[in-house]
Amino acid sequence: MKGLPYKLTGILLLAFVLFSCAGNYASEYEKQRDQKVETLLQEMTLEEKIGQLMQKNGEFPQLREYIEDGLVGSILNVPDPKRVYELQRLAVEESRLGIPLLVGRDVIHGFKTIFPIPLGQAASWNVDLVEDGARIAAIEAASQGINWTFAPMIDVTRDPRWGRIAESFGEDPFLNGVFGAAMVRGFQGDDLSNPNTIAACAKHYAAYGWAEGGRDYNTANIPESELHNVVLPPFKMIIDAGAASIMTAFNEINGIPATGHVPLMRDLLRQEWGYEGVVLSDWRSLEQLVIHGYSPNEKEATYEGMQATLDMEMVSTGYETYLPELIEEGRIDESQIDDAVRRILGMKFDLGLFENPYGLGEDFPELLHPSHLEASRQMAIESVVMLKNEDVLPVPEHVRSIAVIGPLADAPHDQMGTWVFDGEKEHSVTPLQSIREFAGDNGLEVYYHRALQLSRSKEITNADAILRDVNRADMVLLFLGEESILSGEAHSLANIDLQGAQEELVELVSGPGKPVAAVIMAGRPVTFEKAEPYMDAVLYAWHPGTMAGPALTDIIFGKVSPSGKLPVTFPRHVGQIPIYYNHKNTGKPPSYESWVHIDDIPEEAVQYSLGNTAHYLDYGFEPMYPFGFGLTYSSFELENPELENPTLQVGDTLRASVVLQNTGDVEAAEVVQLYTRQLFGSLTRPVKELRDFKKIVLEPGQSREVVFEINTQDLGFHNPDKGFVTEPGDYHLWLGTDSRDGLKKEFEITR
Ligand code: BGC
Repeated sequence: MKGLPYKLTGILLLAFVLFSCAGNYASEYEKQRDQKVETLLQEMTLEEKIGQLMQKNGEFPQLREYIEDGLVGSILNVPDPKRVYELQRLAVEESRLGIPLLVGRDVIHGFKTIFPIPLGQAASWNVDLVEDGARIAAIEAASQGINWTFAPMIDVTRDPRWGRIAESFGEDPFLNGVFGAAMVRGFQGDDLSNPNTIAACAKHYAAYGWAEGGRDYNTANIPESELHNVVLPPFKMIIDAGAASIMTAFNEINGIPATGHVPLMRDLLRQEWGYEGVVLSDWRSLEQLVIHGYSPNEKEATYEGMQATLDMEMVSTGYETYLPELIEEGRIDESQIDDAVRRILGMKFDLGLFENPYGLGEDFPELLHPSHLEASRQMAIESVVMLKNEDVLPVPEHVRSIAVIGPLADAPHDQMGTWVFDGEKEHSVTPLQSIREFAGDNGLEVYYHRALQLSRSKEITNADAILRDVNRADMVLLFLGEESILSGEAHSLANIDLQGAQEELVELVSGPGKPVAAVIMAGRPVTFEKAEPYMDAVLYAWHPGTMAGPALTDIIFGKVSPSGKLPVTFPRHVGQIPIYYNHKNTGKPPSYESWVHIDDIPEEAVQYSLGNTAHYLDYGFEPMYPFGFGLTYSSFELENPELENPTLQVGDTLRASVVLQNTGDVEAAEVVQLYTRQLFGSLTRPVKELRDFKKIVLEPGQSREVVFEINTQDLGFHNPDKGFVTEPGDYHLWLGTDSRDGLKKEFEITR
């Protein structure tokens, strides 16, 4: 039992810590941990040190031998918990030094209990729910021996063509940071050494969401100010939340591949931000420095990775192959390797793996525990964004029969969305199942037609029977969208309209004139401007996860009100992309007064003033739905916006308040959003920036004062020539329920 000495030391350490240092736990703990790391490091051969830097895929043929020889620091993608246990046992009991393995897995939005895709979670604007969801995912994963997840993904993106938008928290840096930090807290808990926690790995550092044209892995060209003001802030926020690790990105950024990006990794992340956690490459992304055309061969890629302070290599083998000779040649100093090993061992100690390498073990907890399913249902409910409702939802009492139609009404796998390695469709409850159950209990008739085998099928099956049933039903519930395979990694689309014959299907079912409520499940914003007029209500449900059925049934039949808000702008047409709320003003901002629509250009016109502002002749300048937008079954009013002090100095706290009233007939939640604008700056500033939000539940007639406190320091931005600056001058502030409207106040920051 080679691992035993560490177990004993662990117990002694714990006893020491508990008995000796009430108020000084963190630093005392760190001191002890670092001493243990140093002791272990002294005993390691160079080969063993390099071994710690290697992450091996579960399918690697010589995995057992490598582990026994102490040449593996981490494994990923070993789905069978018995095999995980066995491999971990080999590391702890059979390798010379008994160093436990980091066991990695993509636990992205749930493990067995699948929660909505991250984009859907962001639409909940409910930070506590997102944290709880990650907590549950960690507990379920830890019960299978997993101790490291490759989440959260905090890649800000402005491009719904990009398949991985599904995995992000949308277009806003603040939302990505807030929800990323919530997930980090959920995965890691209060104490990473607790066996029911797992280490987070925030990704992808950096600018992966900036892929040109939304084509996955594509080049990211991004001005430094935008990189620092839009893409990097969420990374700073997850570091502050204690994220144990960070993953690099596949893309290049302004000519340098992210995995060997010395300025971003060594200089910014390590030196400026002081990040001491583990940095892991993405899948073979280190060797891809060669394919990018940056390093001439894998040896040079290895050199770049080390220079950039990349600690661990996922799957590719540059470090184990070339580090020994790079050291021999004196190009890499062994101390650089020691630093990487220190960070990796430190994470293993933090996770408590030397005391308990096996995680939660078999007796705890139940996967898919009822409380987990309930949390998933609540998150699915809160993630649904109602985009339109012309008095057809919730389903009124007089409706006695419903035609349920569409390829996503009963698609147990697809409702889980992308990145569900461990989710099983057998556990999904589909909308059709739940609606049938509700209908059975309430004496409703349900007529069901899938109509399209898949969302992308080009032919409607049984059109006559569909029409017959629509005619005899009191209303139609139409389940449209995208199956899960149409979003996710490498699953980008150039056309984001409703795929296949879905537009025809909408027209077909709306023919008889029955109310049509559409539920759209998708991994991205889809464009559906043509179909929208045929829909009397639209519920945008993303991919809601295991509990899609019960959650949507609760909303459709009025048990709860929808309360989600868009975390991303919805374009009307793919050609408008990038379209996002926090854009710059331009010198010629568009307006309806100045815009001439293409259809209104006189036929004889040769020279004609078309407004000379920043618009499209055909699509104008507005999105289909703005960021932050979402309706409820109630109505809300905001009044009495107040600023405690309209003149402040940098560092002062800005206190703003507004009264929110539920003026409708039902209980519902509204999200009050606070945006600011710096009117003039040393660099131009966006027209609006989200600074804070609060989700408030109110009974009919109830009102509440909603108070925000913001440190004026945080209203600053990065100017490449000056660093982070908070500039004196005039600012506007809006308190609203979406990014388009809001009650405006003005304030000034003085010197
Ligand atoms: C993805 C990562 C993921 C890794 C391991 C890569 O292709 O980009 O996000 O964590 O695979 O599955």
